[in-house]
Amino acid sequence: ADESTVTITVVGASGDLAKKKIFPALFALYYEDCLPEHFTIFGYARSKMTDAELRNIVSRTLTCRIDKRENCSEKMEQFLSRCFYHSGQYDSQQNFVELDKKLKEHEPNFVASSGWKGCKSTFLLIDPTKHIRRCRKICASLSASAAASGWTRVIVEKPFGRDSDSSAALTRALKQYLEEDQIFRIDHYLGKELVENLSVLRFSNLIFEPLWSRQYIRNVQLIFSEDFGTEGRGGYFDHYGIIRDIMQNHLLQILALFAMETPVSLDAEDIRNEKVKVLRSMKTIRIDDVVIGQYKSHTKGGVSYPGYTDDKTVPKDSLTPTFAAAALFIDNARWDGVPFLMKAGKALHNRRAEIRVQFRHVPGNLYNRNFGTDLDRATNELVIRVQPDEAIYLKINNKVPGLGMRLDRSNLNLLYKARYSKEIPDAYERLLLDAIEGERRLFIRSDELDAAWSLFTPVLKELEEKKIIPEYYPYGSRGPVGAHYLAARYNVKWGDIG
Ligand code: BG6
Repeated sequence: ADESTVTITVVGASGDLAKKKIFPALFALYYEDCLPEHFTIFGYARSKMTDAELRNIVSRTLTCRIDKRENCSEKMEQFLSRCFYHSGQYDSQQNFVELDKKLKEHEPNFVASSGWKGCKSTFLLIDPTKHIRRCRKICASLSASAAASGWTRVIVEKPFGRDSDSSAALTRALKQYLEEDQIFRIDHYLGKELVENLSVLRFSNLIFEPLWSRQYIRNVQLIFSEDFGTEGRGGYFDHYGIIRDIMQNHLLQILALFAMETPVSLDAEDIRNEKVKVLRSMKTIRIDDVVIGQYKSHTKGGVSYPGYTDDKTVPKDSLTPTFAAAALFIDNARWDGVPFLMKAGKALHNRRAEIRVQFRHVPGNLYNRNFGTDLDRATNELVIRVQPDEAIYLKINNKVPGLGMRLDRSNLNLLYKARYSKEIPDAYERLLLDAIEGERRLFIRSDELDAAWSLFTPVLKELEEKKIIPEYYPYGSRGPVGAHYLAARYNVKWGDIG
């Protein structure tokens, strides 16, 4: 921890994300001595609450990484004593002025004791797209109040618009008051350990980088599944659907990191330049290359699971996809013709996020006959399991020990749990720490966002205008069969099946 002073304002403090992720992440940073010595956290939301009530709510979701550390409850108390609350409307300048006054009341002590100028970092949680007007007001108040003291950074949570136009409008609203380098757009998948490790794996191991192209890679699969439905978030979700919720951001960000050219350095701008470049090289997604699905109710073992439209906040006739599969292509020399298949769904049979890289068949393989006609069985596959149970494994062919000549596919396996005893930090811990320290590498720049929307907006519009009916799949199943037909069209089998 350094000597500076930081004030973190959590706008939307009574919401789920704040309770489940932001406060626990801030506490974890405090617990690990990663926050500046003098910090204050202000919750801001419409609900009326006292500081004590906020602390009480926050305390329920805090955990110490190493539970048995003796000073755990002491640390929690200390952390909570730095948390304050101010209730106000999101569109009231007056309420923000009051908040600002409160912030200032806390600041002078710190400045006096540390000798540093007061700094501010602000977390903006509200759904920024729905509230562009509000967002503008918030930014105006923040930048006015920040002018006097240190810096202001605004960390913005998705959704960043619903399409190219609304995203551009949001960017304009933010930029009216903030410089691009003050805006930290979060995609929390970029803060996940194995996503961050992608570039280490590729650029620091000679055995991977030379293979990272159409010459050796047959297809790449980006798979996201959850074994629960929209549960209480139907209202939000119905406005976005799975393509906007997961594919356009989380999976596409992984794809960009995976497929980008070698950056000049590890500097944030160098990395983001490469990501933008590869995103801009992608072909427009064709509607024929997209399959959508929606889960319906299902009874299993006497328990009945609700369908998507059983959610009271979802219109009965909603066509919003809760599942989608898509084939994407990058039109550059490295990746020409290689299908990048994405698959994302809610209420499926398991919870998982992984990247699968399927390599080409070995030409003229002496051992092909050992695999019969199914050469797919013999191809190497690299799997990067982002969650749960983080792992990287490589499927290789191996001789089964014994007198005969039988081949077998085995895994060279790096299981994080077995290799590293330290618990992996939550993505928000890394991202909040980076934002406080001004490190931009893991945040989305506006041109990246534009490129991501340009890619998905046309197909989203077409699906919605044509009112394409999703393929229904039972809650807890493996999702629509259409995903297999789509993959088969490109001679691909999903690696997560069977
Ligand atoms: C969020 C989506 O961005 O990511 C949610 O809005 C989804 O719908 C969540 O459940 C998944 O995040 P994680 O970290 O639990 O895989």
